[in-house]
Amino acid sequence: MRSSILLLVALCGLAAASKNLVKLSEDNWTQLLKGEWMLEFHAPWCPACKDLQKAWNSFADFAPDLKIQVAEVDVTKNPGLSGRFLVTALPTIYHVRDGVFRVYAGSRDKNDFISFVEDRRWRTIDAVPDYKHPNSAQMGVVAVFFKLSMAVRDLHNKLVEEKGIPSWASYSIFAGITLLLGCVLGFLIVLVIDQVFPTGSLSTATKKSEKKGEKKEDKKKEEKSETKKTK
Ligand SMILES: *[C@@H]1O[C@H](CO)[C@@H](O)[C@H](O)[C@H]1NC(C)=O
Repeated sequence: MRSSILLLVALCGLAAASKNLVKLSEDNWTQLLKGEWMLEFHAPWCPACKDLQKAWNSFADFAPDLKIQVAEVDVTKNPGLSGRFLVTALPTIYHVRDGVFRVYAGSRDKNDFISFVEDRRWRTIDAVPDYKHPNSAQMGVVAVFFKLSMAVRDLHNKLVEEKGIPSWASYSIFAGITLLLGCVLGFLIVLVIDQVFPTGSLSTATKKSEKKGEKKEDKKKEEKSETKKTK
């Protein structure tokens, strides 16, 4: 009984998934830069995303009619993309047209999605500015940090759950690594600064002025002795 209900639920889930819904990942998200798209960021653990799922799938069925593409990104599988797009809440919906990104803030309803595209209501929304454009170099750096922090978190979970290491020990290991990296980074920065502003020339300059000072004193002494001699 129970398994047949599960099967039914699974079948309904399958039926709801639109064949037009494009799944994007860190490797192929740049397809977004061409043409017109509606893109949803979601996670399996997010209840609001589950509520949206049905509407998003039936919206995807309209994609060919609207001459757009409807896509989704699973942020748990693509942490780099949630960094790149600065996804701070789930679900987040983006409208993309010819590389111009806009955050959709309307109601999560199929008909509203359709009229947003059909009536070009996206024109009333400000585009994402250049400095946080998902394809910019700086957002690429943010993406790397998101991936890195997710990798660290996964490793921590692995250490604690699979290897049975107590979580305080895992935290200490990562704290140690962080400190070490900080030291190495600090050392490198000092090296670079030293190359750009050599301290060597600074110290020789002070030595020279010291020598000049000595000479002056010598001259003064000589002068004094000369004056004594003339007296
Ligand atoms: C993008 O990559 C993901 C993961 O490799 C794959 O599941 C998906 O089908 C790809 N999407 C497109 C449009 O190529």
